[in-house]
Amino acid sequence: MVRDYSLKPAEVPLFDPEVLTAKKREALRTRIKRQLAEKNAVLIAHYYVDGDVQDLAEETGGCVSDSLEMARYGRDHDAETLIVAGVRFMGETAKILSPEKRVFMPTLEAECSLDIGCPPDEFEAFCRDNPDRTVVVYANTSARVKALADWVVTSSVGLAIVEHLDARGEKILWAPDKHLGAYIAEKTGADMLLWSGACIVHEEFKFQALADMQRIYPDAGVLVHPESSARVIEMADAVGSTTQILKAASELPNDTFIVATDRGLFHKLRRAEPNKTFIEAPTAGDGATCRSCAHCPWMAMNELETLALALENGTGEVFIDPEIGKRAMVPLQRMLDFPR
Ligand code: 13P
Ligand code: SF4
Repeated sequence: MVRDYSLKPAEVPLFDPEVLTAKKREALRTRIKRQLAEKNAVLIAHYYVDGDVQDLAEETGGCVSDSLEMARYGRDHDAETLIVAGVRFMGETAKILSPEKRVFMPTLEAECSLDIGCPPDEFEAFCRDNPDRTVVVYANTSARVKALADWVVTSSVGLAIVEHLDARGEKILWAPDKHLGAYIAEKTGADMLLWSGACIVHEEFKFQALADMQRIYPDAGVLVHPESSARVIEMADAVGSTTQILKAASELPNDTFIVATDRGLFHKLRRAEPNKTFIEAPTAGDGATCRSCAHCPWMAMNELETLALALENGTGEVFIDPEIGKRAMVPLQRMLDFPR
């Protein structure tokens, strides 16, 4: 039996980004563009970071995407320097896949509750206690945890990879997200032993408040990231990774959507579908408190100013122990080679 590795409210940083004047914003954008050009660096951003950082990534020839595509894009790009705007596991993944490149992040303090909730030594003991199981870990983990795995998956490909392993008769040890693990186990029928971590953002979407909201917007489609709880997932018209949510928003016929994922994705959703309406799924049911209120405090650390300063001062470089990196590369490579 695994103990509960969910974070307590006091363990979640409070992060309140500065509201910038138009003048300051433009000055920061100019400084960042100059630095990227001087360093021959490409900016790779996740959909949950500040909209200005997302726009800069696209305007300067980089990309904005989900965690799977960020990994692939960084590996395949010929820039000598990758700037990863996201959380630490994303920068580490980029470095593992491209050890010859220099990888920087606006701040190395950008963590993830799933990564924090899976300490490598305890996870190693868990694997040792269950040697008959194929170890599948979510990308939201440290390099050391990845180095212990047979497979790494993201929410884009987790279901398909577990289906494939189950068809081969393999029993699975899954970490760290208990909600995503339970969702995949339920969909595939695979024998999965689950670690007990959670995402502080997605775990807070509330089933009852969502049901109330659906009564107000009866024609709205419901889009849910699978790090949410089973009761919220059950209410979804589409469940999937950030990219899969974007795809569903354009393919489903509804004009209005209630979206259960980090509010950073709304920047892209509204650009991609300007004639549709997107509403944040509720995080506070009766008597509930919210620690993240639908925005990841670590993703929020990727602000224009932090990015400009990191580029100018050369801070936030990601280093991985080469031995750990070599071992972590194997399950990551399996994921990237898996036919989509
Ligand atoms: P995606 O792989 O869907 O981009 O999700 C990453 C993540 O951290 C979700 O909380
Ligand atoms: Fe981790 Fe959740 Fe933040 Fe994604 S949103 S980086 S899973 S804490």
